[in-house]
Amino acid sequence: MKEFKNKVALITGAGNGFGFEFTKEAVRRGMKLMLADIDAADLERTKQWVLEQGGTVETEVADLSLEEDADRLVRRTMETYGQIDLLMNNAGIAFGGLVTDLPSREWEWIFHINCMSHIYTMKRVIPIMEKQGTPCHILNVTSLAGLLTMGDMPSYYATKHFSTALAESVYYDLQRTGINNIKMSVFCPSYVHTDLHHYERHRPERYKIPADDPYYTSEAYKNELKKAEHVITTGSPVDTVGPLVFENIEKENFYIQMHPNTKPLIRHRMRDILKERNPDFRFTYDISGLVEGRVSLKSIWYVLTHL
Ligand SMILES: NC(=O)c1ccc[n+]([C@@H]2O[C@H](COP(=O)([O-])OP(=O)(O)OC[C@H]3O[C@@H](n4cnc5c(N)ncnc54)[C@H](O)[C@@H]3O)[C@@H](O)[C@H]2O)c1
Repeated sequence: MKEFKNKVALITGAGNGFGFEFTKEAVRRGMKLMLADIDAADLERTKQWVLEQGGTVETEVADLSLEEDADRLVRRTMETYGQIDLLMNNAGIAFGGLVTDLPSREWEWIFHINCMSHIYTMKRVIPIMEKQGTPCHILNVTSLAGLLTMGDMPSYYATKHFSTALAESVYYDLQRTGINNIKMSVFCPSYVHTDLHHYERHRPERYKIPADDPYYTSEAYKNELKKAEHVITTGSPVDTVGPLVFENIEKENFYIQMHPNTKPLIRHRMRDILKERNPDFRFTYDISGLVEGRVSLKSIWYVLTHL
């Protein structure tokens, strides 16, 4: 999609982080907005910001991990504006935890918000966009964690791979079935300084932690929180995200990356697959050290001999 002025953007997770940055750029480009978030107060703050800029905005408090909320959101957008030109599936959460530690309830929560929410909205919005027949776009926020894997956060890597594969497959089907007016992208950044580490703030009531759950008093859990805070608060500044993503939507690029220095890690995983090499955490962590600027003789040796 090349024209944004007076077009309608539906943005999930607009209360904070990337969602707020997408909102800013959409306003700058003259779009009309339907914004959704589970957090009513944060959503209201974003709405007030848009109104101060003279933008056109409606909001819907919605838990996108629930199909009925996604349904209400899409209906409300159509009742309000009569069209949807840009869908930004952004709402998501992240946490660590070994598969042997993390309670199954947490897997269900992260799966429903990081994966099912994309399905709930796409299955409703694609027919609307197809009927419109005008240039439309769907942006699914996945992650670098949707292009490569490492340890520590299996629930995050798994859900982000799901959402990347889902978007790729849906995009093939749009092309195969001749729905050429809808383009798609996945946004795959590494760490960016947002509020992502405060995921507990967005825990829906039905995933409430039972008072006697040992995981939440364990050292493993406390360490995960510390690690998350460190990587997110030392991540890239968030303010370039809006322009970067919209410029790529304009160019109809499918893969939107923000950290080119991470490409050796993606290449490493692909090479492992093609060469039928076993995943080896030592090499992956050496190379990620290189990406983060921690150069060691071992990492240089690795790059020279394995890529
Ligand atoms: N920040 C990073 O380093 C990073 C990197 C790669 C991908 N991402 C992805 O970017 C997306 C946005 O995250 P962010 O970094 O801006 O974090 P953030 O926590 O600042 O923003 C996420 C927003 O989603 C909302 N949300 C959470 N659960 C929801 C639910 N059930 N229903 C509706 N809204 C809900 C939150 O209220 C919040 O406003 C996520 O999908 C995340 O996985 C983030």
